Amino acid sequence: MSDMPFSMYGPDFPFAYDQWLQHPAGLGELPASAMGAEVAIIGAGIAGLVCGYELMRLGLKPVFYEAGRLGGRLRSVHFDGNEQIVAELGGMRFPRSSRSFYHYVERMGLKTAPFPNPLTEAAGSTVIELEGERFYAQKLADLPIIFQEVAEAYDSALEEGAQFTDLQDAIRRRDAAAIKAIWNPLVKQWDERTFYDFISTSSAFRALSFRHREVFGQVGFGTGGWDSDFPNTMLEILRVNVTGCDTDQHLIVGGAEQLPRRLWQHAPSDLNHWPVGTSLQSLNQGAPRPGAARIFRDGQTDQIAVTDTRGHTERFAAVVCTCQSWLLTTAIDTEESLFSHPLWMALDRTRYMQSAKTFVMVDRPFWKERDPVTGEKRMSMTLTDRLTRGTYLFDHGDDQPGVICLSYSWMSDALKVLPLDAQKRTQLALSALSRIYPDVDIASHIRSNPITISWEDDPNFLGAFKGALPGHYRYNHRMYGHFMQQHLPAQQRGIFLAGDDISWTPAWAEGAVQTALNAVWGVMTQFKGCCATDNPGPGDLYPAWGPVSLAP
Ligand code: ARG
Repeated sequence: MSDMPFSMYGPDFPFAYDQWLQHPAGLGELPASAMGAEVAIIGAGIAGLVCGYELMRLGLKPVFYEAGRLGGRLRSVHFDGNEQIVAELGGMRFPRSSRSFYHYVERMGLKTAPFPNPLTEAAGSTVIELEGERFYAQKLADLPIIFQEVAEAYDSALEEGAQFTDLQDAIRRRDAAAIKAIWNPLVKQWDERTFYDFISTSSAFRALSFRHREVFGQVGFGTGGWDSDFPNTMLEILRVNVTGCDTDQHLIVGGAEQLPRRLWQHAPSDLNHWPVGTSLQSLNQGAPRPGAARIFRDGQTDQIAVTDTRGHTERFAAVVCTCQSWLLTTAIDTEESLFSHPLWMALDRTRYMQSAKTFVMVDRPFWKERDPVTGEKRMSMTLTDRLTRGTYLFDHGDDQPGVICLSYSWMSDALKVLPLDAQKRTQLALSALSRIYPDVDIASHIRSNPITISWEDDPNFLGAFKGALPGHYRYNHRMYGHFMQQHLPAQQRGIFLAGDDISWTPAWAEGAVQTALNAVWGVMTQFKGCCATDNPGPGDLYPAWGPVSLAP
């Protein structure tokens, strides 16, 4: 299997979702009696749409409930007065190792391009400004020695603390046994310890100064700025590093939201039961139902009933919940007996991170002009300890408007701007950037109104993405493994969970896709369907390769 591309294969559950998707036998087969049966999908984000799309192809009828805007956190918003140029409010950069996510990107005919991350060729140049000191670089080697020391220290900390090279090689080879042999002991070792603990106790960082840890937090690995994750469980960070999440990322040309929209509209040629031309949109008579307000077991029919926000109730043999797990407590009156108490504990303890972004459209990519004295570009992708944290520049061609993400921040830096409107956020960001680029008048280039988001401010999300805390492995395991329902009491069967917060890799769309595919397997099994013997699904291999259990 070594010729397969590097993918987010494990480490918790090494299952080749990309191969399952690409196999000529398809995902599985349902009995004739199940054809056309309705399944409720709560939330039309990427998890809901992938799940619905595959269930439709198997011959079921997905019925969508959406409280906000189709697409979830793949949300691309046009600047007023320009239909082409978008601000990517949610997912914007997708690691190439997200093989099942890209399966759909390719199937929907979308184009991708390298994302202008710090120190990448796509960014062209990067400015790092910390404690008032400013550095201009094209690659890591252009920076002062401390940045290389920090990068090397993290590499050796990963070797020392997590057998990094061996683990990543095993993932590259798709060697499930070798992955488990390394990963399972790491789960026990690191679940209850933080990212900061990992850094500060490593021999490599102990030999260096506090300043090194500080610089690591602000520039760190890959996309930089991971100090907001210092209190998280180290397991979450290890997964990011080892599966290549924070490197080799692409954007989706024209906006990531096109993916959920195309899945909604797409009429697959290879589908069971439904006539050619059927799409999720046609099966739902044009649009999703409004949001779900109540989910309960209907005593009469033993089905699961969903009441929408307009008070209309329908009954289903299966329901897939893809919303943020907290919404099952806040927005949706969910009958308590549908889940066990330990699962409720896990859903409610889920910890979400805050995140804010502010975008402006500008007349042209003026930042590419060079300073006649220094030869440096007027502005670069910028990482700083100021409140903007990360500034990203999007070039749509010399004669086209450009986009600047003035600020992309997490946690404390996102909270600083939470109550502020777009104008105030823009003003603060411009003021911070003017200290870094005193000679550049960014404001004079701005067209249209700024666009901003704080995901924690939206009642349909309450946060941007999960960031699991120390001791959360067991909660994750309960949520992730819930699609395996054979052992559940009857009153808890038929309701499934999916979404990036159910996955082991929150904040990556691949986690949403993989958990959606787990739910597809769960629903298929519930309807007495099964996978082809030569193309086993996630639930078929879960008993052998599922995540390690920690003692209760
Ligand atoms: N995937 C998102 C990004 O590329 C979020 C990464 C940060 N994740 C986190 N747990 N802090 O920006």
